[in-house]
Amino acid sequence: MNNVEVGWQDRSEQVLTHAFGSPLAQMERGQGCYLWDSSGKRYLDFLGGIAVNSLGHCHPAFVTALTEQAGRLDHVSNYFVTRPQLDLAEKLLELAGAEQGAVFFSNSGTEANEAALKLARLHGKETGKSRILAFKGAFHGRTFGALSLTSKEIFREPFEPLVPGIEHLDLSVAALEQAMGPDVAAVFLEPILGEAGVLELPDGLILAARELTQKHGALLILDEVQTGVGRLGSWFGFQRAGIKPDAITLAKGLGGGFPIGALVTFPSCAKLFYPGSHGTTFGGNPLAARVALRVLEVIEHEGVMENVAAQSKRLRLGLEALGSPLINSLRGEGLLLGIELAQPIAAQVSQAAFGSGLIVNAPAPNVIRLAPPLIVGRQQVAEFLEVFAAVLSQFETQTS
Ligand SMILES: Cc1ncc(COP(=O)(O)O)c(C=O)c1O
Repeated sequence: MNNVEVGWQDRSEQVLTHAFGSPLAQMERGQGCYLWDSSGKRYLDFLGGIAVNSLGHCHPAFVTALTEQAGRLDHVSNYFVTRPQLDLAEKLLELAGAEQGAVFFSNSGTEANEAALKLARLHGKETGKSRILAFKGAFHGRTFGALSLTSKEIFREPFEPLVPGIEHLDLSVAALEQAMGPDVAAVFLEPILGEAGVLELPDGLILAARELTQKHGALLILDEVQTGVGRLGSWFGFQRAGIKPDAITLAKGLGGGFPIGALVTFPSCAKLFYPGSHGTTFGGNPLAARVALRVLEVIEHEGVMENVAAQSKRLRLGLEALGSPLINSLRGEGLLLGIELAQPIAAQVSQAAFGSGLIVNAPAPNVIRLAPPLIVGRQQVAEFLEVFAAVLSQFETQTS
């Protein structure tokens, strides 16, 4: 280990809270689907900052939009509006088919969900409904409101008491049918549960959620923080189910690496927030808005969605063709894929992949998640398959 490496490990240990595990490397530079660490080692990034770097690292369009905007107008308070903010809101409403809706900008996914939870409360107060439903396995963020929607006990327990009135149901149509009633203000649901291990929804759940919320006058709020903005091969996950929700939350891929989140409301609840009911200093900042708009333009006009479909297919076929006894099944859609392993060794596999210059992660003990940049090419897919096959083969011999 050289001095440079010892330096960042010690410094991290000393000056950063230990909220995260020890960092794996100190990253220095990125380009396209690749990252380089401080020792000069190159990595193929098949995690994309956890579904964030939609255009890869340091895409010229991203860099130009950010630097141009930084030279023109950096930040104003929300006493004012800016052109990038308006352009981005209009574009999101158009892409979501939410004309006559309205957008609240935040800086992250958890804040977008925080806003959504307040929206649900306002709806509940207006209509006399007090219950909010979410699902087991759900991940909606780590601030108190969003954490109250998140189901994992190890995240919740140290911080209880959390926001009351939120129930976590089994991820099934039957559980939702049983729980729904006229006292439910909102249902929160992810189109695919990324943090639970790229878990797909049971057949019919999203349709049932739409029907039942409509029947009982509750809001259907879809958390598209991980699934939105082209990740699944459509702009948003709800479009694949052929429904329209009342609101969606976005973040991650929206800024392609610049922090931004959004709550996009459809007309049914676009008028619930009133002046003073919510706020933010940075949300809708012109730098973030301008970059996000550019990210959307590149996705829309440069064949990115077609690329997602093509590379997703290539990845799936390639993984199947490996014929590894360690791969049980493939989950997910587009470029949010979960490789379900036959054994709970995903953390070890992910660590070995990192050693071989490949970045993936393990959201569940038996699942490897892939969320590469949406602009990933045929060549990187081939490289991924080669490295991943070699990594898996180490474990096949160990476990056979
Ligand atoms: C579905 C979902 N919602 C919310 C969040 C929280 O987003 P952030 O980390 O930007 O606060 C995440 C992050 O992983 C997520 O996957």
